[in-house]
Amino acid sequence: MAQQYKAPRGTFDILPEDWPYWNYVISKAREIAEIYGYREIETPIFESTSLFVRGVGEGTDIVDKEMYSFEDKGKTDLTLRPEFTAGVMRAYVEHGMHTKPQPVKLFSIGPLFRYERPQAGRFREFHQFNVEAIGSQDPALDFEIMSMAWQFLEELGFKGLSFQVNSTGCPKCRPGYVKALKEYYMQHYDEICEDDKRRLERNPLRVLDCKNPKCQPVIANAPRITDYLCDECREHFEALRRYLDAAGKRYTVNHRLVRGLDYYTKTVFEVWAEGIGAQNAVCGGGRYDGLVEEIGGPPTPGVGFAVGLERVVMMLKSQGVKVPEAPSPSVFVAYLGGQAKHEAVMLAQKLRAHHIPTVLSFGKRGLKGQLRNANRWGVKYAVILGEEEIERGQVTVRDMISGEQVQVGREELLGWLEKRLNG
Ligand code: HAM
Repeated sequence: MAQQYKAPRGTFDILPEDWPYWNYVISKAREIAEIYGYREIETPIFESTSLFVRGVGEGTDIVDKEMYSFEDKGKTDLTLRPEFTAGVMRAYVEHGMHTKPQPVKLFSIGPLFRYERPQAGRFREFHQFNVEAIGSQDPALDFEIMSMAWQFLEELGFKGLSFQVNSTGCPKCRPGYVKALKEYYMQHYDEICEDDKRRLERNPLRVLDCKNPKCQPVIANAPRITDYLCDECREHFEALRRYLDAAGKRYTVNHRLVRGLDYYTKTVFEVWAEGIGAQNAVCGGGRYDGLVEEIGGPPTPGVGFAVGLERVVMMLKSQGVKVPEAPSPSVFVAYLGGQAKHEAVMLAQKLRAHHIPTVLSFGKRGLKGQLRNANRWGVKYAVILGEEEIERGQVTVRDMISGEQVQVGREELLGWLEKRLNG
């Protein structure tokens, strides 16, 4: 027997019945981007592997375990993008965007790839609405970014949203914190899991994110980064919090929030939502003031976020949010007999050329079957062509809602339909 193919593990098809949800989410993303003054950028789905190794950082799960990396036929090392930020920064540098008025505000929508263990809300191919504001240190921009993410999710109908916020410091103050954290963990070395022992070597901040029950008491009493921030980072965090307070945004300062990408400095945040399973972060983001320089550009600060669109669509479906339905075609052309079929095919084409959405049946089908089909399509009018009508130069038009039928001259039909459909 021939092999039966399935979509690869962790991937899925977005079927026609799913598209009303996706279209709704994507158009809301574009609407919010416009309101905040962000313009669209599309970067390649694959980039040099080293861009992500440098940008996202060695020692992160993404780089160490999750990248779809390959050598192409020209022996170039490439990786399917696991996230947008590094590629957008590459484009910022490559196109000299630092000469434009700053900050440069960009958004993208598209697929990303991570070799993760699939589960509810976690896939190997997934999609994000990603937003970056590049070229300003101002905490007001962190606030803008966070507000934008919030408004997007709120307007889509998310309930039970909360902000988790933290500061991860900067290269000046973070080493002091990492030292204190390591010292503390060394005192509790026997109480922590094997993964944490590895993390202490590779990526110490990630111990704070450990989900192992055994490690929870150790995490609870660990030193807090906010006690180690330099003046600049502390003032930045305080300024952001003043904006959040003034705007009445609910947030929790989460000392354990460290995020899975290395480029973050100062602000990090997530938006959590109830009811989307173990993976309750719908949005993650933060500031990355060292990233552009890390990938070979001029020193340039930036801040951004990404929302996972699968999690948004799951929420819309589970909360029964009504989304605009895909439009039905307006006209169905039915026929009786071979000559009439030829005319019907030509007529459907003429209507489409005039932008009247039109469908018809294929193969050999009786009139009854065709009209059933017309009903399924949900059209407003069925145009019926029989041998007799053709001889008289007429067609029968049936109003599919009232069931009323009228005769219309072939020459008049287009105008007749246009008047009723567009008028
Ligand atoms: P991230 O936290 O890795 O951040 O991903 C952001 C969001 O993408 C997550 O909150 C989640 O909703 C979604 N997501 C991530 N991985 C998966 C997956 N395997 N399956 C389904 N959804 C997923 C970033 O990617 C950063 N680049 C965000 C950013 C932009 N920071 C600054 N600018």
